[in-house]
Amino acid sequence: MNANKELWEKGDFTKIAETMRSSGEALVAGLGIEEGMRVLDLGCGDGTTALPAAQRGAEVTGVDIAANLVAAGNARAEAAGLSNLHFEEGDASDLNGLEDGSFDLVVSYFGAMFAPRPFDVAKEMVRVTKPGGRIVMGNWIPGDPTLVAQILKTSVAYSPPPPDGFVSPVTWGVEDEVRERFGAAGIAPEQISSERDTWRFEFDGSPAELLAIFRDYYGPTMNAFAAASADGREGDLQGELEALFEAQNESAEGTSIPATYLRVTVTP
Ligand SMILES: C[S@@+](CC[C@H](N)C(=O)[O-])C[C@H]1O[C@@H](n2cnc3c(N)ncnc32)[C@H](O)[C@@H]1O
Repeated sequence: MNANKELWEKGDFTKIAETMRSSGEALVAGLGIEEGMRVLDLGCGDGTTALPAAQRGAEVTGVDIAANLVAAGNARAEAAGLSNLHFEEGDASDLNGLEDGSFDLVVSYFGAMFAPRPFDVAKEMVRVTKPGGRIVMGNWIPGDPTLVAQILKTSVAYSPPPPDGFVSPVTWGVEDEVRERFGAAGIAPEQISSERDTWRFEFDGSPAELLAIFRDYYGPTMNAFAAASADGREGDLQGELEALFEAQNESAEGTSIPATYLRVTVTP
């Protein structure tokens, strides 16, 4: 079994995605998407960014490694009456079903960063982008003090060591690594730009209730809780994450938590 696929099919990312919709809409609104544009959303989940892109008239393909999320995305496309949006299973490090130079825009928000073999991921993203097109990635940043970088860091601390050769997904949040990966795919440094931006998680319940959703449905946190429980450290992990969610919350009534990420734009 592919461990990468297993990680994301184990949970149900749709539960987290529901808290990310307004940031997804805001991002897409700023991408200059026009009617008829061909858009690829890589590691698309159930379509937080793919669906609003299709609502703007683009022809959108969502590719994700998790079969359950592909099914959830196609159900959302159908419910929204969007015949210009379809989701299919695939691996960002080997997009063998997709032709060279076929997309005006390739978007990957917190998606392709989780694929193994980052150099292959960069090469594939460049390969399927039309000359004159654009790649836009959102990547969590290692060591950043905000929510998701801290969840991932804490999860790693409670999990068994990864297999040899494993490359941490958050290395995609390091500008030098990004330049090296796209450089190996033939992209010059001046064709790559990056900036820090903010994503927001919004939820009607309390921060502790949002944490419970991560614990029960977000693959990396589920694995960390399983490992912590086997070591008798589940309470420590729960306490650490509860304090994090509480401290990061900016809403008095419910939960609204900003998270910093690296936004990368590549123009092949
Ligand atoms: C944190 S979720 C983000 C989902 C979506 N982009 C969003 O913003 O709602 C990460 C997604 O990447 C997908 N993913 C992980 N590894 C992948 C790979 N090798 N190829 C394609 N998708 C992958 C997961 O299945 C999951 O849907």
